[in-house]
Amino acid sequence: MDKVLIGENIYWAGKIDDRDVPFHRLTLTKGTTYNSYLLKTLKPTIIDTVDMAFGKEFVDNLKNLIDLKEIQYIVINHTEPDHSGGLGSLAAQAKNAVIVCTEHAVEELKEMYKLHKREFLVVKDGDTLDIGGKTLRFIETPYLHTRETMITYCEEDKVLFPCDIFSTHVANYEYFNDEAKEDITEDFVTYYKLIMHPHRKYVQDMILKLKDLDIKVIAPSHGYILRKDVQSFIDMYDKMSKNTVLDKKAAIVYSSMTGNTKKIASALKGVMEEESITCELVDVNKTEKQEVFNAIKKADAVLFGTSTKYADMIGGLEEVLKELKTLNLDNKIVGAFGSYGWSGEGIEVTQDYLKESGARVLNTSDIIKGTGMTDVSFPLRIRFSPKEEDMESVGRAGVYVAELLLNDL
Ligand SMILES: Cc1cc2nc3c(=O)[nH]c(=O)nc-3n(C[C@H](O)[C@H](O)[C@H](O)COP(=O)(O)O)c2cc1C
Ligand SMILES: [Fe+2]
Ligand SMILES: [Fe+2]
Repeated sequence: MDKVLIGENIYWAGKIDDRDVPFHRLTLTKGTTYNSYLLKTLKPTIIDTVDMAFGKEFVDNLKNLIDLKEIQYIVINHTEPDHSGGLGSLAAQAKNAVIVCTEHAVEELKEMYKLHKREFLVVKDGDTLDIGGKTLRFIETPYLHTRETMITYCEEDKVLFPCDIFSTHVANYEYFNDEAKEDITEDFVTYYKLIMHPHRKYVQDMILKLKDLDIKVIAPSHGYILRKDVQSFIDMYDKMSKNTVLDKKAAIVYSSMTGNTKKIASALKGVMEEESITCELVDVNKTEKQEVFNAIKKADAVLFGTSTKYADMIGGLEEVLKELKTLNLDNKIVGAFGSYGWSGEGIEVTQDYLKESGARVLNTSDIIKGTGMTDVSFPLRIRFSPKEEDMESVGRAGVYVAELLLNDL
């Protein structure tokens, strides 16, 4: 294995995968790399591993760099098995190593790699760890790529290990961006759009956290290690994740008996307006039908809310839903929500109408397939009056719709 040095006693220990790699229902035709790093300090530390398919090979290669029993820490920035996949093989031989990760990662790693008896060190945003000659600082970066993700920063060498963030999907045999045979910008941007852009709100949070760090090298977990024009790559993420499409409108058309569905409707309006979406709230029972249709026509996204009474939707909403087919809704996003008591049929019947409308209907399955996020649901169903945790779900749903509009996704 090549000995590739990233900083003082910091070695690349990854795997170049030049297959057509199947990933997230895509084929990565340029392949990819899984970059793992060894920090050979007094308390030797591994940062991330490789894809599950190459776990054994990874561990065998690592033996050329270090006696595995000396390893004190294995930092897992992100649990997805293209990076944590070597953990099972590594932990079995690096018997003295403590696994370092965020709280959300512990359960996933224990389950995936049968590590229930293993010692874990749970770290939080801003925590530091002395690894004997170097100091690691951990920065939580939820949803970049999944909920449990964090970045590790080596203070002495000023190297950032951001896992999926700032990656490229290329099987690069030249390890560093300044050695690349061609400009890597297109690959860098394509990767961003595929993996990071659906979570762009979190990209902005991450960039704020990086502001005060002096970063000389970015050593991500796929593709090129960035050591030339480093700030320009951070600036690209900053620019691409800012709102690009403005002047988007939403309408929330609802029917409510005791005000519970109305509360959800108002909260949706509130969060969407915070995201700079103009939002019109329409109570179907107090509004002329033609006016309701006008609001729908003007909007880029329309959310329809109803509670349930005797297993059906309530008020005048069905009169509106019946006619959706006759309006041209091709370019609109629509979704259903509502409060219910025990079964909530009204919300489901609303969803059935939306499926017939010709518009793009929000649904949980597509959200999971498109983003991997499991905490945004459509139809959005809330039992009785919305409680605090319900309001959080409502907030996330509203932000999700706003993001779709602002990014033309
Ligand atoms: C007369 C009546 C019938 C109801 N029938 C149902 C029902 O069939 N299924 C259900 O899930 N909830 C049912 N509920 C519960 C309501 O949907 C629930 O209280 C909801 O929070 C009301 O929201 P709203 O204030 O937006 O109308 C019923 C409530 C009332 C008052
Ligand atoms: Fe990932
Ligand atoms: Fe990845």
